[in-house]
This record gives sequence, structure tokens and C-alpha cells, in this order.
Amino acid sequence: MPRSPRAGGDGWTSAGEGAGDDVSPDAGPVLVTGAAGGLGGVGRMVVELLVARSVPVRAMAHRDDERAAALRGLGVPVVVGDLTRPDDVARALDGCRRMYFAMSVSPDYLEAAATVATVARATGGLERLVAMSQLTVSQMNPLRTRESHQQRLHWLSEQVLDWSGLPVAHVRPTAFCENPLFLSLAAHSIRRDGTLSLPFGAGRTSPVAARDVARVVAALLADPEAHREHVYELTGPRAQDMSAVAEEYSRALGRTVSYVDVAPDWWSREILPAAGLPPFAQQHLLTLARMHRENRFDRLTRTVEQVTGLPAQTIEAFVAEHRAAFTPVAGRRPVGATPGPGR
Ligand SMILES: NC(=O)c1ccc[n+]([C@@H]2O[C@H](COP(=O)([O-])OP(=O)(O)OC[C@H]3O[C@@H](n4cnc5c(N)ncnc54)[C@H](OP(=O)(O)O)[C@@H]3O)[C@@H](O)[C@H]2O)c1
Repeated sequence: MPRSPRAGGDGWTSAGEGAGDDVSPDAGPVLVTGAAGGLGGVGRMVVELLVARSVPVRAMAHRDDERAAALRGLGVPVVVGDLTRPDDVARALDGCRRMYFAMSVSPDYLEAAATVATVARATGGLERLVAMSQLTVSQMNPLRTRESHQQRLHWLSEQVLDWSGLPVAHVRPTAFCENPLFLSLAAHSIRRDGTLSLPFGAGRTSPVAARDVARVVAALLADPEAHREHVYELTGPRAQDMSAVAEEYSRALGRTVSYVDVAPDWWSREILPAAGLPPFAQQHLLTLARMHRENRFDRLTRTVEQVTGLPAQTIEAFVAEHRAAFTPVAGRRPVGATPGPGR
């Protein structure tokens, strides 16, 4: 197992030592995990943003595939490994003083967080650990279990990272604009019949673009001294009900999109499986839908603008950027045999 050049003595510190109190002028490369991209692709965008700012970066990718090759194409060294494997984490972390920890929605999330915490704590020398979380965590407590498995794992991961004593900043975004709820599943019903068919009732929401999340993460990593908060709650620029959200889709697409509040049971049976997600991720999306209905996503922060100096992207601008996904293609069979029953 490689040892950090920053570690003292035999290369390993005891509990609580060496975490966040050993700042060197030579920060080494910033380690960005989950960097190959996937659903939100925050890690990949963080790499691009840091490279654009001439910040030295090392990327960690899960697999050595074309996405890892694309990262190398940016001139970024790539470590291939699994965040639940301590030897892989130590190899990736070696010589790095700043790190972004995130990976895709996974039942392994807590194990990965605990692995990162224990390895980083043992090697010492991290001056900034920016960790992905979720806005729902702000509403949770030790006894709450009504949230999704993924949200619970994020809550527990935050506890572990805090207990580690590492200099961690938790980034808690609300649902991404790239979330299937607002992109792939929304696009299916919009392509089919011009409706945004979701079981959100009268709930309000404020989705945030993954690029804005990446811009915040890159700012925290590039200049840790300027951003010393422990928690960053991120939302889009407006909290509004789904009829107002549908108006944003309409303006972006230049045609009418209407919100239809479909029955949750019908939606989970007929539409949700079409997202093609594993059961763990399906349970997460189903929970997000229920929580929207309970108005748990009625949140608004200005953190994106406060950290980056630029306002968060509107849904209208996001949908305009992804117009092709919402445009019917001749011959493509829409998801959902019949339109959902309105409520
Ligand atoms: N989507 C939302 O609405 C939303 C909102 C708030 C917070 N979040 C949080 O954001 C995170 C996802 O961020 P994202 O969308 O930017 O991620 P992503 O792009 O979907 O995935 C990032 C990368 O994680 C890698 N990965 C998966 N398992 C791994 C492992 N065991 N070891 C190493 N790498 C692994 C994946 O590699 P492979 O593809 O090769 O497996 C993927 O390239 C989750 O924590 C989620 O809870 C999401």
C-alpha cells in the first residue's frame, strides 16, 4: 500500500492526528473521484473546470474505458480503482492534499465513504475534502428512516466523515436537472403528448443543474481558504410548483407543455421502470417523487451564486440546452402504454 509523502513516522498517524492541520504550500494535484461521468457527471465537469483554471488534477475512474481515455485526453493522469477498496483509494490519494469524493447512486456509498475517511485519516495531510451529499440530509436525524436508502447512506456518510476529523465540506444539492425525473422520464411524456406527467401533486421544487454543482465544487477545491463553510446547500434559482416548471419547459421548447399530476401507483408501475434503473436507484426515485408530493423539495438557496459569482441555471435554460432529448423522433415508441390518469 503506498504511503503519503506527508505522513509522519512510520507513515501512519493515530486516530485524529494529521487530519486537516498540516497545510503545505505545495498542494499537489487535486484528486477528483467519480470522474468518468454518468448520470450527473459532476466529477467529470469538476475535472474540466479545474483544468481550465490550470489547477493540477488527478482523476479517479471506476473503469478503464473510453470515458477514462477522454480524461487522459485532457492531459489528466487517471487512476482506475474502486472507492470501496482501501488500496485503490490510497493509490489515488497518494500526494494529494485536496479531494472531491463522490460516486454514482449505489448501495456501496457508505462503505466507500468510510473507506475514504479511514485511508485519508491514516495517511494524513488532506487540507480539503469536498464530499457530495444531498439536500434532504438537512432535514434528517438519527432516527429518520422515511427517506430513500441512498439518502440514508448519505446521512450516515456525513456522520462518518465528520467523526473522521478530516477537513470536510459537505455539498448538498437538491435534485439535479439531469435527474431522470426532470430529463429522461420528463422527456418521454413530453415527446409522447406534450405533458410533464409526474406524481408531484402541488409540491414545489427547485432543481439544480449538475454543471452548477460542479462549479461550486471546483471553487471549493481551487480556493479552500475562501470557502470555509461546513455545509453547502444548493438549489436552482426558483422554487415553484410543477405548472410553473412546465411553463419553463414550454418557453424553452417553443410549444405548450402542461403538467399532469398522475397517480403515484400508476407512475411507479408504468413509467418508473422505463428509466432502466436497478431496484436501489428506482427506490430512490420513487422516494423523491413521494417527497415532492409532500412538498419536501420546496427549498431555495443562493449558494451557487454566492460561491461562484454567477446565478444558478434556470430550468428553461437547461431544457433549451437539451432540446434534442424532448423532441419526438419519428418511429420511436414512447414509454407508457397510455397517458397516466390525472388527479
Ligand atoms: N441525481 C440527482 O438528482 C442528485 C441530487 C443530489 C445529489 N446527488 C448525488 O450525486 C452523486 C452522483 O453524482 P453524479 O451524478 O455526478 O455521479 P455520476 O456521474 O452518475 O457517477 C460518477 C462516477 O462514479 C463512479 N463509481 C460508481 N461506483 C464506484 C466505485 N465503487 N468506485 C469508484 N467509482 C465509482 C461511476 O463509474 P462507472 O459508471 O464506471 O460505474 C461514475 O463514473 C450521488 O451521491 C447522488 O446521491 C444526485
